[in-house]
Amino acid sequence: MKYLEFRNKDKMPILGLGTWKSNTGQVYEAVREAIRLGYRHVDCAAAYGNEAEIGQAFSDAFAGGDVKREELWVTSKLWNADHEPRDVRPALEKSLEALKLDYLDLYLMHWPVALRPEVSLPEKPEDFRSLDEVPISATWKAMEACLEAKLTRHIGVSNFNIGKLEELIKTAGIQPEINQVELHPFLRQKKLVAYCRSKGILLTAYSPLGSSDRPERMKATDEPALLEHPVIREVAEANEVTPGQVLIGWSINRGIAVIPKSTNKDRLKENFAASTLTLNKDEIERIGRLDQKYRFINGSLWTMEGSPYEPADLWDD
Ligand code: A2P
Repeated sequence: MKYLEFRNKDKMPILGLGTWKSNTGQVYEAVREAIRLGYRHVDCAAAYGNEAEIGQAFSDAFAGGDVKREELWVTSKLWNADHEPRDVRPALEKSLEALKLDYLDLYLMHWPVALRPEVSLPEKPEDFRSLDEVPISATWKAMEACLEAKLTRHIGVSNFNIGKLEELIKTAGIQPEINQVELHPFLRQKKLVAYCRSKGILLTAYSPLGSSDRPERMKATDEPALLEHPVIREVAEANEVTPGQVLIGWSINRGIAVIPKSTNKDRLKENFAASTLTLNKDEIERIGRLDQKYRFINGSLWTMEGSPYEPADLWDD
């Protein structure tokens, strides 16, 4: 397994298990099985609504001797409704309680978007709070305090574009160490990747397989099929692997962490095996040319009519 190295030399396994859309009733077994297969990085979030079940899986895996806490990398995320500085630590503590852990390895600000307390998903303009009311810098300061209190070993962000990162970097006492964003061959994010690299910010790719199991309301009718693209299929055939493994390997070969979601035993195994796939330079470049700036997660929920957020607040292009 390759690792991404943080500033203090802590190492995050480059391949992790994604848990967004992993249903309760299924995620316990998926996490147990993943740990048995060798996964040592699990990506969670309060907003996924499944942290308690994941926590039970961790706790049973520790008790059963499958893995030790210090061998596992656990990420969670601060939900948009908890951006008010006084709400940050309680939100992190709630995730810790659900996950049955006493510290996280990484805590991310889930989105550069603030919602009113208790709003899980916005339905009307009043559900939002603007960043003038709850500035990212204030939320970040509260995350820095969580780091200092040793509730998490690292802090970072998710869904931040270059502009938002620049603003944060200017005021941050502790620089964000990682940015988790949608990243796959249809959305290469060339500029953002180059920017993060220039600032020493690591990257994690979410929705690496195109997230086809997300809710229908989040889908476009004419969505391109990542797993079925002829180039992905050809590279898969040439390497005697599956299209899913090519997509995972593409990220790993570029030094970008990747968190494919699965609750299926065979696909968990298949995805884990992709951690050793080596693609050649030609293949990596060929896949890179599939970029069409296509977002499976377009953030339209945050930019609904009457919201203080616009697409330009979220995305570089
Ligand atoms: P399942 O959980 O039944 O395995 P993403 O990680 O981009 O969000 O994509 C997750 C979706 O991709 C889920 O529907 C998941 O289904 C499916 N999936 C996971 N691994 C693979 C794979 N190796 N090949 C094809 N589909 C996969």
